[in-house]
Amino acid sequence: MQILVVHGPNLNLLGTREPEVYGSLTLAQIDADLAKMASEAGIALESFQSNHEGALIDRIQAAGRDGTRFIIINPAAYTHTSVALRDALAAVALPFVEVHLSNVHKREAFRHHSFVSALAEGVICGLGAEGYQSALRFAIKRLKPQPSGA
Ligand code: DQA
Repeated sequence: MQILVVHGPNLNLLGTREPEVYGSLTLAQIDADLAKMASEAGIALESFQSNHEGALIDRIQAAGRDGTRFIIINPAAYTHTSVALRDALAAVALPFVEVHLSNVHKREAFRHHSFVSALAEGVICGLGAEGYQSALRFAIKRLKPQPSGA
């Protein structure tokens, strides 16, 4: 696996969950678009979703051993609560981009703080599903050897 996409709690409900906030695409549609983009670039990508903090941590720890080179993560509500998730990302020391579908800074104050942003290569929020695609474009550029530019 070269790129791992991690989706946190309640993102399995995308499509029906507050579509005015999170859009109408399902998680399966978002993941299918990412898989297509990655395969066109010749990059292996896996998506993983869990509603459980420990399962997310276990998957991130596994990424530290399974050859994963880049993580795209929407930690969802755990963004704002989970020191353990932050510590897992710090432990594996893989580059990652943090993505949120909604603009968390326009929303309730408790969504303004992220435990993981300080470790991220970058943070994308408010662009809906396009945020994942932008993060993936960035990751692909990072992983593909650049032409020498002679
Ligand atoms: C979210 C924003 C979080 O505040 C929220 O708890 C989510 C989704 C987003 O993608 O906009 O579940 O991460």
